[in-house]
Amino acid sequence: MKILVTGGAGFIGSALCRLLIAETPHSVVNVDKLTYAANLASLKPIEHDARYAFEQKDICDAAAMEAMFKKYMPDAVIHLAAESHVDRSIDGPGAFIQSNVVGTFTLLNAARHYWQALDASARAAFRFINVSTDEVYGSLGAVGLFSETTPYQPNSPYSASKAAADHLARAWFHTYHMPVVTTNCSNNYGLCQFPEKLIPLTLTNALEGKPLAVYGTGENIRDWLFVEDHARALLTVLEKGKAGEVYNIGGNSEQRNIDVVKKICSYLDKKVGLLPSGQPRESLITFVTDRPGHDQRYAIDASKIKNELGWSPSETFETGLAQTIDWYLANEAWWQPLRAQNYSGERLGLNAQKASA
Ligand code: NAD
Ligand code: DAU
Repeated sequence: MKILVTGGAGFIGSALCRLLIAETPHSVVNVDKLTYAANLASLKPIEHDARYAFEQKDICDAAAMEAMFKKYMPDAVIHLAAESHVDRSIDGPGAFIQSNVVGTFTLLNAARHYWQALDASARAAFRFINVSTDEVYGSLGAVGLFSETTPYQPNSPYSASKAAADHLARAWFHTYHMPVVTTNCSNNYGLCQFPEKLIPLTLTNALEGKPLAVYGTGENIRDWLFVEDHARALLTVLEKGKAGEVYNIGGNSEQRNIDVVKKICSYLDKKVGLLPSGQPRESLITFVTDRPGHDQRYAIDASKIKNELGWSPSETFETGLAQTIDWYLANEAWWQPLRAQNYSGERLGLNAQKASA
């Protein structure tokens, strides 16, 4: 199968490209604009593989997307390209509307033009996997889980833009009968994640002895999914998912933010020793002003993908976190340049006025 992956130079997309090349016979074209969040170093293990190609393109560029379909004639699209960081969406929502809404529309439309010209059996076999987030469902209280039928209630500019993209993807199935499948997954963590999200930011700051910012009281809960488990789930959906369906993907690993930060600190203390002051890394924890509109709890009911497609996560939070920290310890050359040149860990998302917003 020929698969067009968008956003394959990002965190989840690069894990997916590595999996597809390493463990399947499929070939991959990775279409990515290379924003600040992209890193081609994440694709080093596959960059010279004959089944892998890279194209630096913006999914908002309609002519470029039409050309990609014409040139590669893919059997499937797995669409991950997006602006992905909630705090950045608070400071500058414009880029999120552009890439996530206009970009998804542009890609869906180019896919439709290409798909409508295929013969009947290729049209039936084609898949467009729209990779979305559990944040479109809003915020949970102390109990309950997000299912595929939970109503959409997005609360941040990021989740609103992803919800808009999901509605477009749904419409392309219902109106044009294009075989679209949407997946909604929980918080990913693992190797090659840009150090702006909670886990890589905390662990890189903790290694450098910098304050560890915990928003509000640290009692917000996220359901953590190891990125390689997610990549396998996307492959499962590609191979077995039913057109027009939605599948929730979660790690069955709910954690309070404060516990995540403490676990990272304690693992690092054991692995690399205490801070030069002799203090444990937990002493770096600093409670800071809460994120505006901060969702309290996310948790996924992943029983549909388990029962219908046979996927469930392999990693627990403890095994996945250990692999993640070990990888960052062994791969400073991957993240140090990003800290030095792209983002050094300052607080984002306080709605500071920006002309570009
Ligand atoms: P990421 O920010 O690490 O990577 C996004 C990639 O998309 C980057 O390589 C970037 O260059 C590319 N991109 C952005 N705008 C583009 C454009 N206009 N044209 C082409 N390429 C563009 O994101 P991620 O964490 O890997 O997330 C991938 C997808 O999964 C996103 O759609 C995100 O909403 C979704 N998702 C992420 C998580 C998570 O925890 N990270 C959870 C649920 C869903
Ligand atoms: O749920 C899926 C979503 O998970 C994805 O759709 C998003 O792309 C992804 O960024 C992630 O969103 P979150 O907002 O949950 O992730 P983030 O890592 O930014 O924050 C996780 C939690 O940690 C959240 O409750 C905010 C808190 N936090 C975050 C940072 C960066 C802190 O307390 N301190 C921090 O410095």
